[in-house]
Amino acid sequence: MSAAPGAEAGTVRTRTGSAAATEALGEALAAALEVGDVVVLSGPLGAGKTRLVAGVARGLGCAARVRSPSFTLINEYRGRIRLVHLDLYRLETDDADGLGLDEQLERGAIVAEWGEKLPAWLRAEALAIELEVGAGDERRLSARAAGGRGARLLAAFGAAAGGEAA
Ligand SMILES: Nc1ncnc2c1ncn2[C@@H]1O[C@H](COP(=O)(O)OP(=O)(O)O)[C@@H](O)[C@H]1O
Ligand SMILES: [Mg+2]
Repeated sequence: MSAAPGAEAGTVRTRTGSAAATEALGEALAAALEVGDVVVLSGPLGAGKTRLVAGVARGLGCAARVRSPSFTLINEYRGRIRLVHLDLYRLETDDADGLGLDEQLERGAIVAEWGEKLPAWLRAEALAIELEVGAGDERRLSARAAGGRGARLLAAFGAAAGGEAA
């Protein structure tokens, strides 16, 4: 893992060489997560979004194993705080309104795969992580913050990635 020099201001870039390394990033991020936080994960199938969530769950001390939801949009895991794991792959545009996410946010932290489908108000205070598939097991991650909550999480992510939140 390394943070590429020259990342534009406000973006933390790193790369991982294994699923375990991606999970370790999630685990480190979990230490900074608080109730009401939102993490938006984007990237194609197989990019490692679910592995990252599994690391977050481990970092929060959640006992249950994180799985890729096939038909459910929401999985919840209990740890230091409640982890609300969304996978919005199958979500039709604007259907997020029916998920009761305002209440979920009062009860835990939301980590959303295909999180770019979340309504704008949920992405306004969030850490957004884009995952790209590189050669073999390489994954490139770039993280950006929106709002104060996002900035706090970006700093934690940057520290976990061994770089700085420029
Ligand atoms: N660096 C890496 N980070 C994350 N996953 C990786 C990495 N290298 C290989 N993999 C593999 O890629 C797959 C990622 O799957 P998953 O996390 O379910 O992706 P997504 O949720 O983005 O569709 C897993 O089979 C995992 O073992
Ligand atoms: Mg997934």
